[in-house]
Amino acid sequence: MNAPCAAVVCLLLVPVSVLAGSHTLMGLATYITGERAFNATIMLDDITVAYYNSETKIYVARGNYTNEDDVVDPNYLKAVSENLLNHFEERPKGLRPDNIENQSHEVHQVMGLCEQNDNKRGQIISKNAYRGSTFNELRYFDGEYTYQGFLNYTRPEIQLNLERSKERLVQLYYPACIEILKNYLKKRETQLNRKVTPRVRLIRKAISDSGGSRVSCLATGFYPRHINLTLFRDQQPVADHEITGGDLLPNDDGTYQMRKSLEISAADKHKYTCSVTHLSLDNKLDVSLEDELPRYHIAVVIFVLLWVCVIFLVAVAICRKRQTERHPDDDDVL
Ligand SMILES: *[C@@H]1O[C@H](CO)[C@@H](O)[C@H](O)[C@H]1NC(C)=O
Ligand SMILES: *[C@@H]1O[C@H](CO)[C@@H](O)[C@H](O)[C@H]1NC(C)=O
Repeated sequence: MNAPCAAVVCLLLVPVSVLAGSHTLMGLATYITGERAFNATIMLDDITVAYYNSETKIYVARGNYTNEDDVVDPNYLKAVSENLLNHFEERPKGLRPDNIENQSHEVHQVMGLCEQNDNKRGQIISKNAYRGSTFNELRYFDGEYTYQGFLNYTRPEIQLNLERSKERLVQLYYPACIEILKNYLKKRETQLNRKVTPRVRLIRKAISDSGGSRVSCLATGFYPRHINLTLFRDQQPVADHEITGGDLLPNDDGTYQMRKSLEISAADKHKYTCSVTHLSLDNKLDVSLEDELPRYHIAVVIFVLLWVCVIFLVAVAICRKRQTERHPDDDDVL
């Protein structure tokens, strides 16, 4: 395990492909220099399916899954785990001594992924990162290798270990990774194919100083993560350069959210709407503007209303009382 790129596994961290019918298995193994163990997270597309700890040697399924004992071949797991630990403990030889000597508690990570596109094997990628920066990357697809090193190695230094890394990647990691990926695709089919409808709101909020407001369309709680969210002004899409936000963010529960905002002046009388398309919706979802009163305004309004009620009731009670006291017999008369 000498090469900077040696132990690299089907462990992983790279943007997940968004092609339909394309799936990835990714793993990320994190090692703190000076410790004798690493932790790994295994992901199927954007779902975390398992954790592994090299000290306890326990592979734990994440979520409500008790029928996954046969997803990962124990021999493969053992081989990969030992390879990786050696790799981490030896430190990547390619990192020059002045880079890493005498440094403990630094983060060294190995990332890798393999892809399956419909029924065809896609690429396999492995990366090494030290203190959060990738220092090399090896890809294999369709008989072709691509190697990138981001440190100043000499050619012989790279060549020395690259051949071994390539061999391991293609003979060991690639087939095993694809097999695990296929197993997971069967076991996690329901979770992967679930559709959760977004909750969508279009809100206007005053911006304190300018007198203008911010119009925001927020879609949250949806899965899968592909969504189209468009702001309209009088039925016309608002130009991209006027819009802020639009980043896809994860929620705690595995769903996603997206917000797009636009600033408008106090005099703006246009009609704003927000339109959302998502796999979970048969038709597009159109939402129109609701004005959001800041919470304290609502509290003040309720407080004032309560007082008005109280004063009114007290006044009524006093009037009644006075009436009865002054004209005890009026009721009879009427
Ligand atoms: C967990 O699994 C049990 C048994 O298969 C099932 O009844 C339950 O609904 C599952 N819970 C969740 C949160 O998926
Ligand atoms: C978003 O819009 C694009 C282009 O119109 C379309 O191809 C894609 O299917 C849409 N995605 C969703 C989730 O509706």
